[in-house]
Parts: sequence; C-alpha cells; structure tokens
Amino acid sequence: MGKKVNITEVVLRDANQSQIATRMPRSDFEDILETMDQAGYYSMEVWGGATFDSCLRYLDEDPWERLRFIRSKVKNTKLQMLLRGQNILGYKHYSDDTVRAFVRKSVENGIDIIRIFDALNDPQNMAVAIDECLKAGGHAQGTICYTISPIHTFEKYVELGKKLEEMGCNSICIKDMAGIMSPQICYDLVSALKKNIGLPVYVHSHTTTGLASMTLLKAIEAGADGVDTAISIFSGGTSHPSTESLVYTLNEMDYDTGVKLDVCKKINDHFKPVQARFLKEGGLNPSVLTTKIDALNYQIPGGMLSNLISQLTAVDKLDKLDEVLIETPKVRKDMGYPPLVTPMSQMVGAQAVTNVLLGQRYKSISKEVKSYCRGEYGAPPAPISDELMKLALGDEKPYEGRYDDLIEPEIPGAKKYLGDLAESEEDVLSYVAFPQQAEAFLKKRREKKALKVSYTIREAE
Ligand code: CO
Repeated sequence: MGKKVNITEVVLRDANQSQIATRMPRSDFEDILETMDQAGYYSMEVWGGATFDSCLRYLDEDPWERLRFIRSKVKNTKLQMLLRGQNILGYKHYSDDTVRAFVRKSVENGIDIIRIFDALNDPQNMAVAIDECLKAGGHAQGTICYTISPIHTFEKYVELGKKLEEMGCNSICIKDMAGIMSPQICYDLVSALKKNIGLPVYVHSHTTTGLASMTLLKAIEAGADGVDTAISIFSGGTSHPSTESLVYTLNEMDYDTGVKLDVCKKINDHFKPVQARFLKEGGLNPSVLTTKIDALNYQIPGGMLSNLISQLTAVDKLDKLDEVLIETPKVRKDMGYPPLVTPMSQMVGAQAVTNVLLGQRYKSISKEVKSYCRGEYGAPPAPISDELMKLALGDEKPYEGRYDDLIEPEIPGAKKYLGDLAESEEDVLSYVAFPQQAEAFLKKRREKKALKVSYTIREAE
C-alpha cells in the first residue's frame, strides 16, 4: 500500500454552504450518517461555518442538538468544524470568555477537529480558540487563508505556518476559499510548508474556477497529508472536487485513502434525490454548478462578484460594474491587502461600490471599514494607506495592542437577560453568537413545549 492520504468529506458543511446556502435540514441526512461512518473518511466536516446561523435563522433547528445527533450516529469517524477564530461563527469579534466557552462546548458536544482561521491571517485572532481547543482535548487545525497579493509571499505563508506550529496546532490547513490557487502554486506552497514545518498539511479548495481537482492532486504529490472533497452529486462549481473521482484517481496512483467506493455509492445515491429537490424548488441555482473563470481574471472570489452584481442591480447601476471591478483591488490595497474572505470580502466590495457610485473615493466610509481602521478586526496584512486612515479616523488614533482585551465578558449579561429561556450553557452561547435569531428560536421552542404540555393534559382528560 502506498502513502496514506486523508480524505475529509464536506457535504454536510461546506458543500451544503457553497451550493445550497446551508439550507440542508437534518431530515435530509439523518438516515445516511451511519453509512457515512463506514466510508473510511479520515473526518467529516459537519458543523461550524454558516451552519450554526442557518440552523437558527432558517431551519428551526438547535445547532447544538444537530451536532449531538450527528455524533450519536457517527461513532468512528472524526467530526470536524470550521471556526472563524475570534469571530467564532459570526461576523464580528467576540469576547475571550465567549470564544473559550464556545470552543469548549463544541468539543464537549462531539467535535474532534476544529479548523480555526482568521480573515486577516492574524495569529492573534486565532490564539484564544487554539489554546482552548487544545485544553479541551480537541485537535486544533491552524489555517492559512490563501490569497493573491504583492505582499502574500511564500515566505509570509511559511512564517504563519511556523507561528501556528509554535502555538501548539496539531495540523495546518491551506484554505483556498476562492478556488484561485493554481496546481503549481499549491505544489510549491505545500512543499515549502512540509520542508519548514513538522505538522501534517491539509488543503482545502473550491472548484469555482475549475482548478481545484488538479490543485488537490498536486497538493498530494507535494506531500499533503489530506484534502477536502464532497460526495459527487454535491461536488463541482462553487463546491469541491468529487470524493469518488479523487479516490478513484488516487487508488490508481497507489495512494491509500482508506475510502470505500462502494460505500460512497450508497451515500451518493442517498443524496441524489436531496439534490434534485433543491434544484426543483430553486434552493440550488444551476449557475453555481458551472465553471466561472472570472475569479481568476479579477482575483476576487465568485461569491463576492455575485454580491457586487446584486448590489449594483439593486440600484439600477449595473453599467458601473467595470468601474467597480477596477476600484475593488484599489480599495483592497488601501486596506492593506486583506484576504477576500468573510467579513473582509463584504467590507471591501461595499466600499468599492460606494466609492464608484458617489463618484469620489471614501466620501462615505462604512462603519465596518472605520472599525477595521481602528484595529477592531486585528492587524491588517500590510499597513492601511495614509489617505484612507486619515479619512476614516480623522485625528482619532487606532488601538495599539489587542482590541479584544477591551471587549467585556459577554456571557454573564446574556445569562441574566435570558433567564429561564435558556435551558443550558449552549442556549446562552447561541444567544451571544446570534442574539436576535437565537432569542426567536428559544421563544418558539418554549411555545412548542407549552403546546405539547397542554396537549398532554387534554389527552389525559
Ligand atoms: Co470552503
């Protein structure tokens, strides 16, 4: 048997998120979990990212209950989640007590591996989550967000990898959220990391631009220890390379993935009607399934491009798209080349649209960009331009040191506010993460329970 390659199946988290906007209810996968547990995957990414928000906001599901249910059915395979560092599963920085409690509860409820990333690649924004994950007995996977800019050099990525190793991470992930990492760059980057760092290296990409299948194969040839794939019916387009195709390829090349293709077939057969229903009901837009090369030309992620188009369409200014596409990299440069991943992609895009529509750069600056300039999101990869800094902050000085130290603990106040509406520490964490959605969910849950009690009483009469 050849070299071992770990396969992480992402259908329940990232494929679900990138093809059908994270709308897959538990009922769509509960019957296949035990089979998935038999497939031989190294891990299954099932939680985190947008799944938490989506459970509360759209699916009327308790995200914690969803995780516990998956754990109860998946007994052998490692369960994995994606965590946005100090942003946990939200879009802003939370207090350290929230980050720690959230990480601890994630592990307690069944997560084995936490992939921890930061939109700015600022290790300080990942430090608390990594520390707590290790303390809770979890596997901390430190993440390097891949992006293209004059300052994002191999040296910088290796430096970050070393830093993550020093911080105690168990493995490293190269995260190519936009699907713009070319096979050759990936080969060189994985080689550089393997040479300089003693940790397993994982590669995550998206098939948006059509590169990812080739990129993952080159990653493996360079010595990557594992890659992320999605079961074929939910693969391709904005999602990921297909699990079965990659396993088939690797089998022929004498790599050992441990993944059983006959079990994959059962899993794929299960998800076929699920995919068909999303297509039929409009939850899956066929346009996300085709290869979009624009992200390579403009070097902005596909999701961000569609956001820009919809923002311009909403104000009937789609004719300004070319100008916005020229302005976007300029804003990004002014902001110190942040990787274009949530929440930075939204911030950069919206500011570029504003600059173009108002016909004057930074005439109006969003609240978020001002907070970013103040240092509330951590350290930008490169210094913010003097022009933007001056226009955003005036005479105000940015924070020196760690902004998160200024955030008051959030849990005690939330506990007090919720009172008996919260039945567990998990409920309190749901509220801290997404106050409006969680409160609505918890109230609804209480009403349902009350209804159940009254039915029981009536039945007893
Ligand atoms: Co992804």
